Order: sequence, then C-alpha cells, then structure tokens
Amino acid sequence: MSKQDSHFANIFSVVLGLLVTFTILMFALARYVGSHTQRPQVLEDDMYVAGVQARTQLPVRLAIAGQDNSVLTIEPPAGAKAAGAGAALPLPKDGHEAFEAACKACHGEGLAGAPKAGDHTAWAPRIAQGKATLYQHALNGFQNKGVMPAKGGRVDFSDELVKSAVDYMTSL
Ligand code: HEC
Repeated sequence: MSKQDSHFANIFSVVLGLLVTFTILMFALARYVGSHTQRPQVLEDDMYVAGVQARTQLPVRLAIAGQDNSVLTIEPPAGAKAAGAGAALPLPKDGHEAFEAACKACHGEGLAGAPKAGDHTAWAPRIAQGKATLYQHALNGFQNKGVMPAKGGRVDFSDELVKSAVDYMTSL
C-alpha cells in the first residue's frame, strides 16, 4: 500500500466512524423524543386505539341462537329513514315552489337559450303556441335552439306539478 493510499484509508475510516456515531446518536435522540410524544399521542390515544381495533376486528359478527342479537340489526341511515326510501328530495307543493326547485336554474337567468321567466318578448311567441304545447314540451322535453330537458330534469315531479310550474312561469 502506498503512503497516499494508507492516508486515504485512515481518513476514510475516521469519516466512516463519525458517520456511524452520528447515526447512532440521531437514532437515540429520535427514540428519546419519540418516547415523550409518540406514546401519549398515538399509542395511548383513545380514538386511535379504537380506530385500530375497529380496523383489525374480524369482519364477521355472529348471531347466537337463544341470545339477544339486536346489535346485529342493520339500520338504514337516519336521513333515508326520514325521507322514506328512494325519495331523496322533498317534493314542492305548488307551481311556484316547483319553479324555484327545478326551473329557475335555467329559466331564472335565461341560461343556454332558455326563455327567461318574466321576459315577455321571449315568452310571447312560445305562449302563442298554446298552453297544451307548452305543457307538452315541459313534460317531454323540447329542443329547438337550446335543450329543455323533460320535466326540467325532475322526473320525480308529477305532470300536474310541472304544468303548474309552466302556469307560474308564464304568469310572471
Ligand atoms: C337545463 C335547463 C332547463 C331547466 C332546468 C328547465 N328548462 Fe325549460 N327550457 C330550457 C331551454 C333551453 C328552453 C328553450 C328550448 C328551445 O327553444 O330550444 C326551455 C323551454 C321551456 C318552455 C317553452 C317550450 C316551448 O314550446 O317553447 C317551457 C314551457 C319550459 N321550458 C318549462 C320548464 C319548466 C316548467 C321547468 C321546470 C320544471 C323547466 N322548463 C326547466 C331549459 C331548461
């Protein structure tokens, strides 16, 4: 080994030794800091422990014959119960409410070519077609310059409700 090589080997060992010492010190420091924070914050936190238990529980619950198994009853979510199954949105009572709920989005501001409610110039030629045609177009949809979706997209509305929304809108 030349003199230069052994000099390099010495320096290299010292640097390596320092790095190893530094690593061990950092590890010890991390353990020390962790023992103050990790345990109370994570391992002893009630919600955390409950979460871990819930996730590691077996995905089965057994009904035992002759015992009280009421905890196993599957309850529908509270909202679904109140509104009745399938009925997501409450139904409006009259034409005004139906207009607010389903038609105003487009007819309020005259979006996408929709005749604006209260704009008599826009409505006059349409009203001239006769109420029957307007009802028909509101119920089944209509496409000329824009797209009027059937029942304004609220197919859960009754025909009567849509018709009263048309009456309300054309009366403005
Ligand atoms: C997504 C937007 C949109 C919604 C929501 C909407 N409309 Fe329309 N409506 C239109 C557009 C666009 C037109 C114009 C269609 C055309 O002339 O091509 C129109 C036209 C009409 C017309 C005139 C049809 C004709 O023969 O000229 C009536 C009546 C009407 N809508 C009623 C309703 C009612 C009632 C509702 C609510 C229940 C409603 N619309 C909801 C977009 C909408």
